[in-house]
Amino acid sequence: MPPGRVGLFGVRETLEYLMDSNAFVETRVKKYGPIFKTAFFFKPTIAFGSKEAVDEFKSFEASLPADEALPETFRELHTEYGALKQSGAKHKATRKNFSRVLGREALEAYVPEIAMRTEEFVNKLKQRKVPLFLGKDIKRFALKTLFYLFLGKVPEDSIIEEMYLYNAGLLSLGKFDPTFKKGESALEKLTQYVLEYYLEIKKDEAKLNAPEHFFLKQYSEATDEFGDTFSDERVAVTVVLMVWGSYIEAAALMGHSIRILGDKENADVLKKAKEEARALREEEEQTLSTLAQKGKYLLAVSKETLRFHPQTAGGLRVNPTDRTFCGYDIPAGYVLTADPRIAFLDESAFSDPKAFNPSRFLEASKSEDRFFPGGMGQHQCPGINLATTMNVIFLTKFLTTFSSWTPSEGMPEEVPLVQVPIVIIADEYSVDLMQ
Ligand code: HEM
Repeated sequence: MPPGRVGLFGVRETLEYLMDSNAFVETRVKKYGPIFKTAFFFKPTIAFGSKEAVDEFKSFEASLPADEALPETFRELHTEYGALKQSGAKHKATRKNFSRVLGREALEAYVPEIAMRTEEFVNKLKQRKVPLFLGKDIKRFALKTLFYLFLGKVPEDSIIEEMYLYNAGLLSLGKFDPTFKKGESALEKLTQYVLEYYLEIKKDEAKLNAPEHFFLKQYSEATDEFGDTFSDERVAVTVVLMVWGSYIEAAALMGHSIRILGDKENADVLKKAKEEARALREEEEQTLSTLAQKGKYLLAVSKETLRFHPQTAGGLRVNPTDRTFCGYDIPAGYVLTADPRIAFLDESAFSDPKAFNPSRFLEASKSEDRFFPGGMGQHQCPGINLATTMNVIFLTKFLTTFSSWTPSEGMPEEVPLVQVPIVIIADEYSVDLMQ
């Protein structure tokens, strides 16, 4: 077996992980190297990130069941329609629909709307002259934007609040935890809300074909593994799951980018990022291709943010049979996870890995296959490009509006974080913005 410890029911490891997941991984990599034994969410786990281990894993990953490794509360609240729980033909059919709503054509349709909403958000920040809460405010902005992109309208505040309750429920500690019950009821309310709206839009072809209903339109034609059109309820749940999966990830990325760019030791990076943001802002309108051509450094900042401050683990898969892996004997029942956080610390791919250096992503492509913030294999994230596109647009507006920002009075030196399901800056943390 690889070095490391699981302990009794994995309790100590799991609790330590939940305190600070990135530090947890880093300490173990230092102590044991890039493959180690531990426990994630009380399950015995082998985490690895070396090139050899990841390559070997890729050769059999497609045959592993995905959902058994996920925490029970997550499996329940993620519903039968959630891709993370599916495998085989069912999963393949679900993924085919992702490319229609998250592929290039879809991003092109979303960019003008994202740009407009971002402009509005940043202008309000400028006028309000109050601190910016890097977790809370950005989360709300991302959630409203993604509801608009995927539903075609921004729900009232009570529905926005339900999404937060659903998010909290997904990784509650057990089914008897009140947070889980609240998550369950939030999912029901969210689904009902989306379903009512979808049925109204679907009745009227002109409305369904309107640009703001691009996502609904695609899903009104989506088919499952048997070629049957998705039920209305499935479309509604899909909207809820997609808004959830995207808002918290996109918000975490934006918050971390601003926090890192505000650090004094990253002054040179900030200067370069501002220069590019100014040039991009001068463009008459932002399209996907202007961002791709003229926003290369800001994209590199986004990627480096994901590497420097990872916000998720990799995918978790249960090993169904005893197997030899990387020369170790791994018993059936262990979780196997190709962990991006281990790869991101690999000096041979990312030299001086503790330095924030976006330029590394402008150079050689040597590290491309070592950069997998959205996991790998059959369940690899289809939404990373949407999140980085939102971040590039956000940075363009933010960096041309504010000259600097510093932690508000009374903020702790260490930025408080929420660890699960996504590492994101805690609601109470704010910065003061200077124009
Ligand atoms: C930078 C931000 C993001 C990160 C770091 C991230 C990370 C991940 C990870 C680690 C997985 C699991 C992969 C696995 O199990 O192997 C995943 C899956 C997924 N992500 Fe993302 N994600 C991000 C943004 C998004 C966005 C914006 C969307 C848009 C809806 C999205 C939608 C999904 C979906 C639908 C899956 C399930 C795929 C499947 O099971 O086939 N993600 N993501």
